[in-house]
Amino acid sequence: MSPPSPGGASSPLRDARRSRFTYRQLAQLATYSITTPLRVIAHIDLDAFYAQCEMIRLGVAEDKPLAVQQWQGLIAVNYPARKWGIGRHCNVAEAKKLCPDLIAQHVATWREGDDKWAYRDDAAANIATDKVSLDPYRLQSRKILATIKESLPRDLQKVEKASIDEVFLDLSAQIHAELLRRFPELSSPPPSGDVSEPLPFPSAAALEWQNDNLIDLEEDEEAVDPDWDDVAILIGSEIVRRVRAQVREKLGYTCSAGIANNKLVSKLGSAFKKPNEQTVVRNRAVMLFLTEIKVTKMRNLGGKLGDQVVSTFGTESIKELRDIPLEQFKAKLGEETAIWFYNTIRGIDHSEVNSRTQIKSMLSAKSFRPLIKSSEQATKWLRIFAGDIYSRLVEEGILEHKRWPRTINLHHRHAGQTRSRGCPIPTGKPLDEQALFILCKELLNQIVAEGGAWPCTNLSLSVSGFEEGVKGNMGIGAFFKKRDETPPPLRPLNDTEFENVAIEQPSKKPRLDKPNIERFFSKRNAGSRQGSPSETQPLDMDKQQSEVADSLWFDQEWKESGMLEPETTTSSHENSGPEDPSYLTVLACPRCKASFDDEVSLQSHEDWHFAKDIQDSERVKPAFAEQPAASRGHGSKGSGPASKRGRPRTKREQGQSKLKFG
Ligand code: CTP
Ligand code: CA
Ligand code: CA
Repeated sequence: MSPPSPGGASSPLRDARRSRFTYRQLAQLATYSITTPLRVIAHIDLDAFYAQCEMIRLGVAEDKPLAVQQWQGLIAVNYPARKWGIGRHCNVAEAKKLCPDLIAQHVATWREGDDKWAYRDDAAANIATDKVSLDPYRLQSRKILATIKESLPRDLQKVEKASIDEVFLDLSAQIHAELLRRFPELSSPPPSGDVSEPLPFPSAAALEWQNDNLIDLEEDEEAVDPDWDDVAILIGSEIVRRVRAQVREKLGYTCSAGIANNKLVSKLGSAFKKPNEQTVVRNRAVMLFLTEIKVTKMRNLGGKLGDQVVSTFGTESIKELRDIPLEQFKAKLGEETAIWFYNTIRGIDHSEVNSRTQIKSMLSAKSFRPLIKSSEQATKWLRIFAGDIYSRLVEEGILEHKRWPRTINLHHRHAGQTRSRGCPIPTGKPLDEQALFILCKELLNQIVAEGGAWPCTNLSLSVSGFEEGVKGNMGIGAFFKKRDETPPPLRPLNDTEFENVAIEQPSKKPRLDKPNIERFFSKRNAGSRQGSPSETQPLDMDKQQSEVADSLWFDQEWKESGMLEPETTTSSHENSGPEDPSYLTVLACPRCKASFDDEVSLQSHEDWHFAKDIQDSERVKPAFAEQPAASRGHGSKGSGPASKRGRPRTKREQGQSKLKFG
């Protein structure tokens, strides 16, 4: 570890001034307290993630332009290709026109008859028979997570996987240990014995920020000597630099990071400069940093709530919104939302880094274009779903009986209505691909028997209610004894059973630090749902708060809930070029009337409704209450950090909605 950066020859204790921070606040670092101002949170996000996965897999040189293709669209674009103006908004033909040397690698797909996903040269032409597999990226994601964890001290780490390519780290305890190591004076008790006594002041020597992007301070702050929060964040940035170096060295991936006092600001920080950069937002820099960002770019404000704020208060400038008194927000937004909003635009966020990484459910889905019209066709897809889910269950450790899903559900969409059928997964005998297939076939039969099943626009299979299996050295016999001896009858769950098995709620302790905007979101959820069999659930604020800034948060929520990656857009970009008359037509969503320029966007948007219905009905604590980005129209060019780094944003909405179905 490098020698103490601050201090130099002069010991902090020799400085007669007192710190703004107390002994108590220092001690609180060791316990990951969410309120200590010395807290340090990092957000790490992989650069052009799927594109890097393909580059590493294929051994493509780092300066070569590469994009990941899905059917005729692009879902990830590496930084060399972005220099050519290529972004997720391009289709393959457009991208190749911009850069003829572009390597366009199609994602892996499942295909009927094959029992494993594969990279296939003809995948793009087989949208009707193939289903996208993101397994290769999940695998890399897991390796990266493992490497990150390995590069942190085992007993002083708190890591939250926030999506397929990002994590939050709460570095507080590690930094606490490091502070005491570097500044032994801090280990002594307060001279008066009172922990609310201020700490001695750290040396005024300049801190060594190496090549970090250091967000500027207000002019009058520049002259102020660094205090312990600056020292803490400096140590945080050193830790993050080492973590990133390990990921790069061991696996070859570059990532960007933000280091700040909370999740909200650290996530904005990681997006500030990409690729392969880290950005430090000191406490004193937060207000100025946020001033650069449009309010609609902030977490939870990318949708209706953000629009409502902008139209009600006539500005999207955070600086101007900060001049509005809390009382005015309360009058327009309601007490809790107002308080949450008031804090958010000041960069205040007390949400915890949640190290729970267990998957709660898995979903395999496909949207059909052309629509499917028979049980035979549907059955082919059920085989693929069963294979997809089974291979993920194997990765989850089902063969070793580590984790086991208790419930299976099939969701079917026809004529704007989603029907779901579920049953308990029989216990006492091995759960394999064929068993999954038989179960979901039975569920399909139930739906078909009711009539009115065809044509079908979307079909998906999910498993949930994971149970822990054997731990440690327990033998297989113990596992099986633990489970029921006889399989329960195959029938749909009643409401109570569904409640009991389908959702795993993390145990909640009272959270006084959390703002509660659940009511606001829940209402809108309820309003936008149709034909959903269950009541809207209260939203998980842990999750809501773990996501920041842009409208990607819906995607994140989807992933975090474990309802991973439904099928992507299924109609092809080929049909929506300038020669295609539909390109110019404004299409409207039949459910919420949002308008779209092209069919692909509309389809993605409808997929979003479908996915949301499922998630609502499964009660997997839907934390996404906003409209998909795609419904908000176009032209959301930001003046915030994202646009600063030149990332194509013009039609990000379309690309964003892809993720949910990739
Ligand atoms: N993704 C997607 N569809 C979207 C958004 C993201 O399929 N609408 C996938 C991308 O392929 C991407 C990964 O999810 O590689 C992570 O997304 P994100 O972090 O937003 O973008 P990156 O491609 O990683 O690019 P950046 O360097 O800007 O983070
Ligand atoms: Ca990324
Ligand atoms: Ca990301």
